[in-house]
Amino acid sequence: MTEAELYTVYKGIYFLKHFNTSQNLKYFEEFSFRPDDIVIATYPKSGTTWSQEIVPLIVNGGDLTCLQSPNWDRVPWLEYDLNLEGRPSPRMYVTHLQYNMMPPSFFKVKPRVINVMRNPKDVFTSAIHYFEKASYHVSPGPQTKFLHKFLDGKVAYGSWFDHVKSWLNAEDKEHMMHISYEEMIMDLKDSVSRIAQFLEIPLDDEVIEKIADRCLFKNMKTNSSNFSLSPLEIDRLAKSEFMRKGIAGDWKNQLTVAEAEYFDAVYKDKDC
Ligand code: A3P
Repeated sequence: MTEAELYTVYKGIYFLKHFNTSQNLKYFEEFSFRPDDIVIATYPKSGTTWSQEIVPLIVNGGDLTCLQSPNWDRVPWLEYDLNLEGRPSPRMYVTHLQYNMMPPSFFKVKPRVINVMRNPKDVFTSAIHYFEKASYHVSPGPQTKFLHKFLDGKVAYGSWFDHVKSWLNAEDKEHMMHISYEEMIMDLKDSVSRIAQFLEIPLDDEVIEKIADRCLFKNMKTNSSNFSLSPLEIDRLAKSEFMRKGIAGDWKNQLTVAEAEYFDAVYKDKDC
């Protein structure tokens, strides 16, 4: 199916029609944040689901029962959920929106934001596999063509560059934490500890260790929540396919030399 059939345009960016985005984003524009809200902000394929596992575990002091509900229930989407309000504090949300697309209340209230970023070549690699399988996305087609679309921001959720820059250059930095997928891969325990510190949630060392262990790729892959609970995903995207490889640097197996060079040239040009 085509972009026009599957995507809706909001502020010049493609969003998924499947999740009724136009209606939800209108509702979100009026949304009131609370000071103790926690927002996970990511570009797609950058560690969103991973963070939807880590942050609730930190907030719940390592209590694994918080993972019994699916990730979209325990950390709902700001752009896709019409039932954001009546949740107990601290409320946790996730979003693929850019900083400048947050509603007025966000800039007044300044909730805490955890911004997770990933090497864009790996984001591209993860996306090309995912877009192929998730039926609510336009099929990527030939790789080089999709690469051009990705680098031009003509894909769902817009340009990786615009997204990352919007959060990195955000004002009011004191209520934001930036962390990379690669840092989380390199040392998950340290990453969990840093996120807990940012959230001002004191955790014992063994709790941090337990959370990090529970959130290892191999353990999340066998986790029974998330995608196995969604009829849509059962039909179209098996959980094992969503939790694909979970490594840094897989782009080396995906991009040709010419594609990688083109990527580097665009990256340099965008001055990220
Ligand atoms: P790959 O396709 O490269 O394997 P998102 O949740 O933002 O859509 O990101 C999905 C990517 O994060 C997928 O990358 C997925 O495998 C990876 N991922 C999810 N959980 C992970 C974990 N615990 N450790 C490492 N990578 C993880």
